[in-house]
Amino acid sequence: MTFTPSSRPRRLRRTPALRAMTRETVLSAAHLIHPMFVHEESADSPIHSMPNVVRHSLQSCVLAAKEAWALGIPAVILFGIPDHKDEVGSQAYAESGIVQRAIRAIKAEVPDLTVIADTCLCEYTSHGHCGHLCEVAGHWTVDNDPTLELLAQTAVSQAQAGADIVAPSSMMDGQVATIRGALDAAGFSHIPVMSYAVKYASAYYGPFRDAAGSAPSRGDRASYQMDAAGGYREALREARLDVQEGADFLMVKPALAYLDVIRLLRDEFDLPLVTYNVSGEYALVKAAAQLGFMDEKRTVLETLTGMRRAGADAIITYHALDAARWLREP
Ligand code: PBG
Ligand code: ZN
Repeated sequence: MTFTPSSRPRRLRRTPALRAMTRETVLSAAHLIHPMFVHEESADSPIHSMPNVVRHSLQSCVLAAKEAWALGIPAVILFGIPDHKDEVGSQAYAESGIVQRAIRAIKAEVPDLTVIADTCLCEYTSHGHCGHLCEVAGHWTVDNDPTLELLAQTAVSQAQAGADIVAPSSMMDGQVATIRGALDAAGFSHIPVMSYAVKYASAYYGPFRDAAGSAPSRGDRASYQMDAAGGYREALREARLDVQEGADFLMVKPALAYLDVIRLLRDEFDLPLVTYNVSGEYALVKAAAQLGFMDEKRTVLETLTGMRRAGADAIITYHALDAARWLREP
């Protein structure tokens, strides 16, 4: 005896044209942001845990920026790795700092590309924390309010160098309001703040800290980044505060283990939403692909599509150049 289904969703999947016509989620190069590490050496250096990602020289970061723009990627985000790190991360806000020089070099050669500067201190401090270190009752942590001043100085120096957007990632309370105020006072009221609003303390940042040499030398970031087991109330509160403080974009980071949080923010707020497909998420796919366990192209495009479906307008991803190339293939 045969059963006759009364409904046949497969009718709409029969041909590539039907599938294309009924697709809801669109992924294109226009949704991608290409992250780059820039160091002060004259040659690129590979990053062991991030195959195919390098610490760029100034010259090669300009070339990569050109390549990204030519592929239809609208923005890059820059992370500086200074030769000299100190207690207060002074190279983060130095006029001749590596990121400031990289911004100037890129804007001179690819003026239409949006250049985002990550605004934090951990790549610049000798102890690897995101601000002024202090000890409170036997626990090492970051001193919130004195750090705000340094973050504001960093954001202003990035805007002076020509950054189109500043992106504070330290999870200090009040960082968006402080940076907004400092930018406005310095004549940069037109520069948006992309807030890493909902950022979890995550094992998935491991390869990034390898790349930037920013693993904390003592303690960890759990006293300022969010607890992975934190619920929706905490995510909503962090995002709401940043909206009130004047953020122009919100971000959820990492992406994969937090797709539900992306959807939550998409439904609750009307600012553009960015997610960060972080270094460890990249490393997982690269390792599996190198072992022949996964098809890299299909895996990456499916994952990025999932982030778009969850509600991200834009995705910061180390796969950006590859994905943009794959999206051009028929
Ligand atoms: C700096 C910063 C980090 C990342 C982006 N900005 C590191 C951290 O918080 O430890 C991680 C990005 C990645 O893992 O790709 N605060
Ligand atoms: Zn940091």
